[in-house]
Amino acid sequence: MSNWAGVTTLEIDTPALCLDADALEHNIERMAAFFQQRPAALRPHCKTHKCPTIAWMQLRAGAIGITCAKLGEAEVMAQAGIRDILIANQIVGPKIPRLIGLAAYSDVMVAVDDIANAQDLSAAACAAGATLRVLMEVDAGMDRCGVPPGEPSLALARQLVALPGLRFEGIMGYEGHAVMIPDPAERRAATEKAMGILVGVRDLLQDAGLPVGIVSAGGTGTYDVTGAYPGVTEVQAGSYATMDARYDTVGVGFERALTVVARVISAPREDMVVIDAGLKTMTTEFGLPTLVHPEGWALQSLSEEHGKLRREGGKPLRPGDVVTLVPSHGCTAINLHDAYVVTRDDRVIGEWPIAARGCVR
Ligand SMILES: Cc1ncc(COP(=O)(O)O)c(C=O)c1O
Repeated sequence: MSNWAGVTTLEIDTPALCLDADALEHNIERMAAFFQQRPAALRPHCKTHKCPTIAWMQLRAGAIGITCAKLGEAEVMAQAGIRDILIANQIVGPKIPRLIGLAAYSDVMVAVDDIANAQDLSAAACAAGATLRVLMEVDAGMDRCGVPPGEPSLALARQLVALPGLRFEGIMGYEGHAVMIPDPAERRAATEKAMGILVGVRDLLQDAGLPVGIVSAGGTGTYDVTGAYPGVTEVQAGSYATMDARYDTVGVGFERALTVVARVISAPREDMVVIDAGLKTMTTEFGLPTLVHPEGWALQSLSEEHGKLRREGGKPLRPGDVVTLVPSHGCTAINLHDAYVVTRDDRVIGEWPIAARGCVR
């Protein structure tokens, strides 16, 4: 790790993944304020930032716990002293002993949507003398993981409640098909429909006498609708802390904290220059990153180590000039980096390890 504290953004060695501390803090406070006066609570998803420092900032601001996508991410967060962790995914196969181990030093909770998997978890928990918290995942319309609503949900929940070594805490259902809908009214309608399905499952279970303490859902594009929906108890929004270009276009009102700072390394033509940031620095599954500085230039393409910029009326650029881009998808771009270069007022204040990057298992 380099020691850049105090240098200006223009002096940072590149390419670098930068985080604006003011914008990050603003985003964390803004989301926390939304939940302050509501029955629902915030359980931010750490799959975007992957950084225990930021997770602790969210917890200090009022979050009740955190969400992770992977067991490896949850282990990193637990090792950083965080206890209440939801792994919003199914854990199967050789990972199960690790999960039971994690339950010995955290209050980890895991998603289940299959009885055979739940029986495996139950057997492993019983063998270790442990109790594992589980949420039944319901397909609220996204068509990814989750048991279908209605009778299949009730049937699985009845079996989960009876399994030794497991504590049935409630249900979750991520409305990922709604979070990116650009039109706010359409997004609201799709979100309300999904939450209607999820809370409908809660009602079904409760009417059958099953305890449903937790109803967990929500992302950055839908937190305001999901977080206000009667019956939802917690929201898993994640991208809001750092933001990215994709969420900028949805207009969710959070500030841009995450950027990539790069440098021109070659200026072969007046209308085209090459920067030192390519696909090893940024990802493209949601489109090219957005060039935000300097004006009058646009990112044309990325290859492994290079990015090509096209001139669109801007001042000529020379090798050594610094440019700034916003990743299109924060989650996967952040996953490429060891640390954030954290800045305030354009000066570096430190480097924060992205300790849970690359935790694909
Ligand atoms: C299960 C689950 N919950 C919550 C989120 C957070 O979504 P966002 O990044 O839109 O805040 C995700 C994102 O993929 C997710 O998969």
